[in-house]
Amino acid sequence: MHTQVAIIGAGPAGLALSHLLARQGIESVVLEHRDRAYVEGRVRAGVLEQGTVDLLHELGVGERMAREGLVHRGFHLQFAGERHRVDMHELTGGGAITVYGQQEVVKDLIAARLRQNGPIRFEVSDVALHGLDGERPAVRFRQGGEAHELTCDYIAGCDGFHGVSRSSIPAGALRTYQKIYPFAWLGILAHAAPASDELIYAYHERGFALQSMRSPTVSRLYVQCPLDDRIEDWSDDRIWSELHARLDLADGPPINDGPIFERGITAFRSFVVEPMQFGRLFLAGDAAHTVPPTGAKGMNLAIADVRVLGAALAARYHEGRDDLLQAYSATCLRRVWRAEHFSWSMTSMLHRFPDDDGFQHQLQLAHLRYTVSSRAAAASLAENYIGLAP
Ligand code: APR
Ligand code: PHB
Repeated sequence: MHTQVAIIGAGPAGLALSHLLARQGIESVVLEHRDRAYVEGRVRAGVLEQGTVDLLHELGVGERMAREGLVHRGFHLQFAGERHRVDMHELTGGGAITVYGQQEVVKDLIAARLRQNGPIRFEVSDVALHGLDGERPAVRFRQGGEAHELTCDYIAGCDGFHGVSRSSIPAGALRTYQKIYPFAWLGILAHAAPASDELIYAYHERGFALQSMRSPTVSRLYVQCPLDDRIEDWSDDRIWSELHARLDLADGPPINDGPIFERGITAFRSFVVEPMQFGRLFLAGDAAHTVPPTGAKGMNLAIADVRVLGAALAARYHEGRDDLLQAYSATCLRRVWRAEHFSWSMTSMLHRFPDDDGFQHQLQLAHLRYTVSSRAAAASLAENYIGLAP
């Protein structure tokens, strides 16, 4: 078997890349460890920057998103018992984000790719990368009990934080940067109308909470919890009582409860590798960098990476130039570090730190008061939130 680009992983990065390449007449094969139902059912964040929305439209997969996605022109910051609206639209001269679940994006990308007869091989195992520093790399894997070898010109490592691609690079070729945070998020989906049309980010003495949504009848809610909490530690009653304690205001309607149909714990990690390339292997998305979920930059960064990679591979195949491929890592890392800073900053502003003796709490309140009272500070938050231009 031979293809031009072997893509490891059918998350947003790998799937969007397969579409970008197909539109340039470049062949690819996607190799995915899990089955299709698992990949389509995995619940992640759901905030799309305008650049992400535009790319999905360019790829011809934006139709359901345009129908079902919720366009938001603002969000709320809540602290000290008050809710303040950040008017992203006005502060950024017309910017907005779209709320549409990552797994809906994944479903749309898979359906469209399979309609074009684009090869996605689900349930492959023992993926191993070979010859990365030569002219003819190869991917060996097993599927249905048989061993296969796929030779290719380039490999795109789009297999997430725990994938095999990054760990196939020899020790010493990469520099890694990492920050672990002393808390996690417990996230739920519930059949309950969102209490607010726009997202509410709440900083509370008991910890962070977030009211988000997936539709007018489905709420997506998160509470900050200790790092080592297990999902079994949280009964439905405990989840709702924490959400009410952190999100309800004395003088407004409480958030709405409803049957919980999905729950999970999201770890916090800021992680970056430099460079995002080794020989003919290019890393994209979570394989190369992760951000804490506050601000929902993860999928947007993954899509931004493959936009750059797709254009660089097109220049290579159609114009014989490899300068864009050479520049791939540096081009992506400028955006990645901007998003790392923003995600770290928003996380630091909005969470209770378990070792805080009160000093950090006062700094956080000062930061929040400044953000909602200074137009310059609010505009800075808003322009980062909607996503800076490439
Ligand atoms: N072989 C083949 N596939 C693999 C392997 C492997 N060894 N390891 C992991 N995968 C698959 C995973 O099953 C998953 O479907 O790679 C895919 C990686 O997808 P994501 O984790 O969604 O990563 P990415 O496409 O970079 O998207 C980043 O996902 O984690 C969120 O918050 C993150 O929103 C961001 C987005
Ligand atoms: C979500 O809806 O899942 C979501 C929204 C905003 C965030 C993170 C997650 O900052």
